[in-house]
Amino acid sequence: MINEKIIVQSLEKLQPNIYLMKAKAPVIASQVKPSQFCNIKVSDNDFPLLRRPFSVCDVQGDSIFFMFDVHGEGTRILSEKMIGDEIEVLGPLGNGFNYNKKFNKALIIAGGLGVAPFPFLTKVLIDKVEIVSLIGGRNKNYVVKYGLKNVSVATDDGSEGYKGTVLDLLEANKESLIDDGTIIFSCGPTPMLKALQKFAEQNNVECQLSTECAMACGFGICQGCPVHSSTEDKYLLVCKDGPVFDSKEIVL
Ligand SMILES: Cc1cc2nc3c(=O)[nH]c(=O)nc-3n(C[C@H](O)[C@H](O)[C@H](O)COP(=O)(O)OP(=O)(O)OC[C@H]3O[C@@H](n4cnc5c(N)ncnc54)[C@H](O)[C@@H]3O)c2cc1C
Ligand code: FES
Repeated sequence: MINEKIIVQSLEKLQPNIYLMKAKAPVIASQVKPSQFCNIKVSDNDFPLLRRPFSVCDVQGDSIFFMFDVHGEGTRILSEKMIGDEIEVLGPLGNGFNYNKKFNKALIIAGGLGVAPFPFLTKVLIDKVEIVSLIGGRNKNYVVKYGLKNVSVATDDGSEGYKGTVLDLLEANKESLIDDGTIIFSCGPTPMLKALQKFAEQNNVECQLSTECAMACGFGICQGCPVHSSTEDKYLLVCKDGPVFDSKEIVL
């Protein structure tokens, strides 16, 4: 983990409220794994005081990418950065997905901005296994396919793809989507991850959940990001023990 001053190289609008930032970050780019994240000091001033966590969305040479939607003050400030601006970033943080094992299909399930870690995972796995991506958004303005492969879309209002949740789409197609060598890699809002946890248990499929919660330090000091362990009477920390957990490992 280092505190690197990254330099903004581009800021692209992918959807009306969703941005992709590319920044030069040679040290983090050389170390980061898919679904690790960075804690970004969005402003040079003291407001907002706390850094904001964002998944590293992609890596190209010595550049890293972040994808974010404008949510509150922190993301609004990020969306107004200019090319050449310097930003202080702590990373890479967290554990990342565990893909160094035998499997033949990566089934990516993402909800909303939960797509953010998957362009990088797709790049790493593309020559190794089959990749199928199911992504869900509330409407077509929240659907981002950047960097993904074999994408099927679900929207709550039916404005793009299947009408329903991404879990509905998964359930409707599970026979063709899941076989013995499948691992589900997932990221999205907690209710979606909770439903997926249940799905994985019922269908006996390995499932890794990249979880989210509000964070302060981002590296295990403040104890501000607890999640219940399902196997022991203790808390795990999302920033340090996660953000990726086996779906059997935690209680959401
Ligand atoms: C490990 C990790 C990786 C993340 N990766 C991404 C990413 O790649 N792209 C992205 O857009 N977002 C990501 N997030 C979420 C992102 O950090 C928050 O949306 C961001 O901090 C909001 O900052 P803000 O100042 O704009 O909003 P704030 O003013 O801080 O918050 C606006 C509203 O959102 C709520 N909120 C803040 N953080 C979270 C959260 N983590 N989960 C649920 N609600 C929250 C607040 O309670 C408030 O109601 C990630 C979070 C974690 C923990
Ligand atoms: S955010 Fe401080 S311990 Fe996790």
